[in-house]
Amino acid sequence: MKALGHLFENNQKWAEEMVGKDPQFFSNLAEQQSPKYLWIGCSDSRVPANQIIGLNPGEIFVHRNVANVVSQTDLNMLSVVQYAVEVLKVEHIIVCGHYGCGGVAASVDGTRHGLIDNWIQNIGDIAEAHEDELKSLEGAERADRLCELNVLSQTKNLSKTTVLKGAGDVGQTVNLHSWIYRLDTGRLIDLTV
Ligand code: CO
Repeated sequence: MKALGHLFENNQKWAEEMVGKDPQFFSNLAEQQSPKYLWIGCSDSRVPANQIIGLNPGEIFVHRNVANVVSQTDLNMLSVVQYAVEVLKVEHIIVCGHYGCGGVAASVDGTRHGLIDNWIQNIGDIAEAHEDELKSLEGAERADRLCELNVLSQTKNLSKTTVLKGAGDVGQTVNLHSWIYRLDTGRLIDLTV
C-alpha cells in the first residue's frame, strides 16, 4: 500500500464529489485564480482558513505562519502580500489569530524554546508595550487579550509595509481586517478598529 494511502483515497473522494456538484469546477479553476481575499493566519492545524469561512479552492489566497506574525523582514510573507495586492488585486486582507495560540503563549512564558524564540520575540515586545493592561488581567483572560493585541499589532505592521503604502499611493483600496477565532466554539470575532 502507498504511504499515506488513506489521504489519497480522501483526495479521490473529494475531487469526485466536487466534480459531481460542478463538472467544470477544476477545469475552470485550472485556468485562473481570482480570490478576493488574502488570509494571514496561524499555522495551527485547528484554524484552516477555507473551512472556517466556508470558501472553496480559488476563493482565498492564504499565508500562514506560527502566531500570524507580520514581520517587515519576512520575504515570504511580503512576497505573498505583494502578489495578492498587485497581481490578484485582492480587496480585503484578513489577519486572523486565535485564542489559545501556542506561539503567543510561548512568547511570554519565560522559558527558551529554540529557534522559534526569534520569531515570536515580536509578540513579547507587544506584551511589554501593553504591560499595564495585561497585568490587570488574570490567567486565561490575560492570555486571550495578548492574542487579540497580537492580531491588532500585526495588522498595524501590515499597514506599514511598502506594498500597502504603494497600493494607497495609486488609489487601490485594500481593506485590512483583524479577526480572532475561538477554538472551542468555532466562531470568529471581528476586532477591526
Ligand atoms: Co496559533
